[in-house]
Amino acid sequence: MPSKKNSDIKDPSLAAAGKQRIEWAAREMPVIKLIRDRFAKEKPFKGIRIVGCAHITTETANLALALQAGGAEAVLCASNPLSTQDDAAAALVSYGIPTYAIKGEDQATYYKHINAALDIKPHLTIDDGADLGTTIHTKRTELIKDVIGCNEETTTGVIRYRSLEMEGKLRYPIIAVNDAETKHFFDNRYGTGQSTIDGITRATNVLWAGKTVVVAGYGWCGKGISMRAKGLGSQVIVTEVEPVRALEAAMDGFRVMPMIEAAPQGDIFITATGDKGVIDKSHLKVMKDGAILANSGHFDVEINISEMEKMSTKRRTIRTFVEEFTVADGKRHLYLLGEGRLINLAAAEGHPASVMDMSFANQALCLEYLVKKRGKLENKVYPVPPDIDAQVARLKLSAMGIKIDTLTAAQAKYLTSWQEGT
Ligand code: ADE
Repeated sequence: MPSKKNSDIKDPSLAAAGKQRIEWAAREMPVIKLIRDRFAKEKPFKGIRIVGCAHITTETANLALALQAGGAEAVLCASNPLSTQDDAAAALVSYGIPTYAIKGEDQATYYKHINAALDIKPHLTIDDGADLGTTIHTKRTELIKDVIGCNEETTTGVIRYRSLEMEGKLRYPIIAVNDAETKHFFDNRYGTGQSTIDGITRATNVLWAGKTVVVAGYGWCGKGISMRAKGLGSQVIVTEVEPVRALEAAMDGFRVMPMIEAAPQGDIFITATGDKGVIDKSHLKVMKDGAILANSGHFDVEINISEMEKMSTKRRTIRTFVEEFTVADGKRHLYLLGEGRLINLAAAEGHPASVMDMSFANQALCLEYLVKKRGKLENKVYPVPPDIDAQVARLKLSAMGIKIDTLTAAQAKYLTSWQEGT
């Protein structure tokens, strides 16, 4: 068993509290439980070392325990400096899963943690944003020979791995777990939708009813956030760059306009685009006094924080996760939440366990798939095998006590024939 001293966490005495919360999350993760029970019997990861660079939460802990039950030597590190739950990290170490993650760690510590986790020389990696993979591809290339493959959890990471592939520099196979239907339809939409509102509410205690909420980006995350804000009585404005998505937002009943027009109208701004500079100097200049700015995209690049600083005479923390910027004219204050990092994980607990159950079931089954396909896959970004996606959906439905119809033989034939028409 790996030694406990091979970890870097905030406080080992938080382990008992973390274990209780991990058990609580497990109650909402029946699919992971089934997979864990099977892994415990079949040991698909015997002799396999796995590094997971993930948000260190109670849900991730349940995934790691399933991998450990399957015989893996698993080590975790944070995929974001502000998303770690220190009690979950302490519990993981007490379960014999070395963990390198401290909430609020600086950038140097963040990469020190990634490198420390990589020292086990992984066969499999789990990435959430591709920082682990880019570290391996640039600074730890000696590890590549041992890597069977990697699962990528999030949209931003899949984009980065695809760029690596397009430049011909990808050195091992990637499974785009994010792109599984049982991942992004639910995690990105309902998980981000609910937990983003939760994070902003916990940080500020704002009333959503009657507020004008500007949501930047109408991908699956933006759709979920807009839907939930509307449900709470906010008037939602969506900003987009892609015409089809903009049209979809308009037909879903939202006002759609460029950010420069939305900027003076919004009370709360939420970015979920995956791109940088979405809220920039020109927008900040025309925002109302009291505007609240939060980001739900993977990286802290969507709100131009250095411009916010430049245009302000004062920056102070007014509540936990709320910073007040006094704009130079002295007449306006802008409020930045969670340092512009993923607000759902910085100020709340990330996506609820029930949705992570499906995302992490995909993770677990795709890792098993990578082991089975060892040496047979090319250095490409692969989709999740459709039978894994269907299996996750079936298991989740069954856990929820929902039955569905099956096609009759005649119906199945009809769907694959062309003869019957008008
Ligand atoms: N990403 C979003 N929410 C998460 C959670 N609760 N655990 C791990 N990763 C997440």
